[in-house]
Amino acid sequence: MIQTCLFPAAGYGTRFLPATKALPKEMLPILTKPLIHYGVEEALEAGMTNMAFVTGRGKRALEDYFDISYELEHQISGTSKEGLLKDIRELMDACKFSFTRQTKMLGLGNAIHTGQNLVSNEPFGVILADDLCINENGDGIMKQMMKVFEKYRCSVVAVMEVNGDEISNYGVISGRNIEDDVLIVNNMVEKPAKEDAPSNLAIIGRYILTPDIFNILSQTEPGKNGEIQITDALMKQASDGIVLAYKFKGRRFDCGSLAGFVEATNYFYGLENAKK
Ligand code: UTP
Repeated sequence: MIQTCLFPAAGYGTRFLPATKALPKEMLPILTKPLIHYGVEEALEAGMTNMAFVTGRGKRALEDYFDISYELEHQISGTSKEGLLKDIRELMDACKFSFTRQTKMLGLGNAIHTGQNLVSNEPFGVILADDLCINENGDGIMKQMMKVFEKYRCSVVAVMEVNGDEISNYGVISGRNIEDDVLIVNNMVEKPAKEDAPSNLAIIGRYILTPDIFNILSQTEPGKNGEIQITDALMKQASDGIVLAYKFKGRRFDCGSLAGFVEATNYFYGLENAKK
């Protein structure tokens, strides 16, 4: 069973300026819960209890969120408002939290490498909390990926079909199906031009990685945009062994973009109203 989920959360979130000038992007709320809360819930549902965060300067709100707020909690203790803290208290009771800092924002690959000291030498999950995923009809996305990992015991990346010019915003894979929704990756390109994309299968912010990725990352040169790309490291892992791509069941909202954020808000508001 995989114990640790890594949350790279050091990015600047420039698409949400000015809000992200003083607030981590991962603390932006969808309804009343910040994005990071949904990510931790998804990891916990998959059986992970060791939540490891790679943060950066100006991201202290993330640590505070997973800690007790004595003054506030004392103030609302015994009132009807106390129930509003139920969800976060449940996460705090069920999980352990650890934090490290990425000092230079050298890309997602570097952020994951920075998290090595929080991950023992075992496979681990990675969740980018600004990709908000939900599966109303069954297992969450990380839990689905865990099942694939338990069967094949190698790195797994979550992919979805993206058509048109949008494909250039993603890491893109191509591969050979070994099951309906599972492919062995044979090519992977970070943010290709539309005409160079090897398929329409885009990687989203969910990974299960085997720990040999750290050694590969230590040798990975900066790639697209001068950043150390996890896609390049995974391509090396795929050419030395096996990396799987999994077409998940459910929905993913790109909450790193304004349109995706608004769409997620409306969607979750609809779900909330339907419950009433
Ligand atoms: P993004 O590409 O969304 O970048 O990073 P960003 O800085 O967060 O947002 P914009 O584009 O400026 O609006 C994808 C994920 O990788 C993390 C981010 O926190 C986000 O979860 N990341 C990226 C790091 O942790 N460190 C980095 O150096 C880069």
